[in-house]
Amino acid sequence: INYNPSEPPFVRYYVPFIGSMIEFGVHPIKFIRKYQKKHGNFFTFLMFGRRMTVCVDIDGNDFVFNVKHSNVTAEDAYNSLTKPVFGEGVVYDVPNSMLMEQKRMIKSGLSIESFRAYIPIIIDEVNQYVDKHWTKDQDTIDLLQSISEMIIMTASHTLLGPEIRSKLYEGIADLYHTLDSCFTPIHFLFEWLPLPSYYASEKAHAELDSIFAKVIADRRKEPGEKHIDMLDALMASKYKNGEPPSDKHIGNMLIALLMAGQHTSAATTTWALLNLAENPAIVNEARTEIGSMLGRELKGGSSVPEISYENVKDFKTLDNVIRETLRIRSPLVQLMRKVVKPVAVPNTSYVIPAGYYIIASPIISSTDEKYYKNAEAWVPSRWNNSDADEQADKSTTDYGFGAMSTSARSPNLPFGAGRHRCIGEQFAYLQIKTILYTLLTRFDFELDPKRGMPERNYQSMVVLPEGPVLCQYNRRTIKNQ
Ligand code: HEM
Repeated sequence: INYNPSEPPFVRYYVPFIGSMIEFGVHPIKFIRKYQKKHGNFFTFLMFGRRMTVCVDIDGNDFVFNVKHSNVTAEDAYNSLTKPVFGEGVVYDVPNSMLMEQKRMIKSGLSIESFRAYIPIIIDEVNQYVDKHWTKDQDTIDLLQSISEMIIMTASHTLLGPEIRSKLYEGIADLYHTLDSCFTPIHFLFEWLPLPSYYASEKAHAELDSIFAKVIADRRKEPGEKHIDMLDALMASKYKNGEPPSDKHIGNMLIALLMAGQHTSAATTTWALLNLAENPAIVNEARTEIGSMLGRELKGGSSVPEISYENVKDFKTLDNVIRETLRIRSPLVQLMRKVVKPVAVPNTSYVIPAGYYIIASPIISSTDEKYYKNAEAWVPSRWNNSDADEQADKSTTDYGFGAMSTSARSPNLPFGAGRHRCIGEQFAYLQIKTILYTLLTRFDFELDPKRGMPERNYQSMVVLPEGPVLCQYNRRTIKNQ
């Protein structure tokens, strides 16, 4: 099928047009591993008329993340999918140089000062949630659903501010949900179909615009009142040309941030807790470590000791738990770009033609035995020793959270690399660690004996644990200690 020897090998298919769509869609990771073995780190498959070139291992990651923007772009790959969700004028609906400016503005809202302010807010939101919904001493719940609600509450409150958070129950959560329902593979494959969800999303955007506009106008009326959140940071920011972003663009950036962090952080927190439920010794280790740091035991009951930004940063066991969870359960398993001008793959004889999509899948290298012993096993302690993996990404961040990558030549890149690298990593670590800290202080968890550890569900753009994610919580009462 591969007529041009200068292109990467083509995966054989039997149904014209559809190509390998079904095999890829059912289990993309199995699919990629199978053809990586057969064809090497670069190969192309047909999916619904599109030619998709998979680029894996360290060379593949490096190629996709660092390829020249004049040849390959993210906006051509993602805009039809993300515009109905994020709205106009932001992220992939603008030239790349403007996205870079918007990312700079967003970074200004992710300061240490703001992180300090977010910790008590997150603890309070989680406490409110469990006090309202987990009222028994022991019960079986849908963990993904509970965690998703905690993520939306904590992210809305911290990033968007108390005004928007207080309106979550007055319909804003439904508006988010309407936007979110456009974020599916169908909307990528059938971008030309007039799907009803597009009309619903336009309406939802119009309503959100007017809610944000009112909150922004109210804040402008009280310029002396400083809020430490992303909304204030964006309202104070300017493009290079001196122009401030319009209210609509501020609102859409906030929506984009919320959407970028929602399923990714909810999936990561849920997988982390499911794995902790299977490993009580690691829960004890985390509690002992935190207890000795705070100078008091984490005894259970409903009171959650106050913690500082420095404490959260130093929760080493929870840090390892999150890092290891992301290594084997990265929620984003296919990152795409579109080739707009033919591009040569370095150190190969391949040229990928214009019109092709290229796909990076860092989870392939982060679960490769070549780099990690017992690679499919969840072993947080492998991150204890920074020499555990010489190739792994070890550079630290300004904030001290997560494995901020400066190089794309790492096997473990759950936050991507290069110009499109995630800027929410430190926020995600802070949010997830604080949620885990609050929950583990108050509860023990056990997997549901019938359901066990869920499989991955690849039907959505962000890979989630297959629902219902049943899990039992047991309240830790002080008298049990
Ligand atoms: C980009 C992962 C949380 C905002 C990315 C990318 C990855 C990623 C892999 C690169 C996409 C690509 O190259 O195509 C994750 C994971 C998260 C997480 C695993 C949680 C565990 C967040 C949060 C926010 C956020 C909480 C916002 C506060 C962004 C933004 C981009 C991005 C703005 C840049 C998009 C671009 O430049 O094209 N994320 N993310 N992410 N993420 Fe995250």
